[in-house]
Amino acid sequence: MKFIKGLLLIPMITVLFSSAFAGGGDVKKGKTLFNDPKFGGGTAGKSCNSCHPDGKGLEKSADKKEISIMGNKMKSIEEAVNACIKNPMKGKGLDVKSADMVNIVSYLKSLGKKAEKPKKVEEKMPEKTK
Ligand code: HEC
Repeated sequence: MKFIKGLLLIPMITVLFSSAFAGGGDVKKGKTLFNDPKFGGGTAGKSCNSCHPDGKGLEKSADKKEISIMGNKMKSIEEAVNACIKNPMKGKGLDVKSADMVNIVSYLKSLGKKAEKPKKVEEKMPEKTK
């Protein structure tokens, strides 16, 4: 029994370590939050992913010096996230230092790293004409 418990500890420790090295936040948890319509107290039934599928278009946001949403200048990526939580998602917003905020920002930062790879265009997707 002791041996089995020891085995179970290995993946747990691995998870703890990998999150500790991801710049403080947990990318995986951030991704879960990104798909959660109740994130940040959201009540409109929309998740971040509803408007930003797979984070497309947000790859550079975390590194931007200036973000502007619908003409409003945001001071930080956290403020931009809160603007999207409060307005379209009808949520309360998050404390900038909360774990959820740190995790979602880590997820957004991870998008930029993936953006280097060229992606195959999906043929099923309808073309945007705007
Ligand atoms: C109802 C649709 C909607 C939802 C839901 C939504 N957003 Fe947005 N988001 C927008 C729009 C519209 C903009 C502004 C785009 C623009 O002005 O170019 C934006 C802008 C942003 C930006 C700034 C992009 C940039 O680089 O200029 C970030 C970051 C962002 N959203 C993150 C999120 C996150 C995180 C969530 C979930 C908490 C979320 N959004 C939920 C519609 C949405």
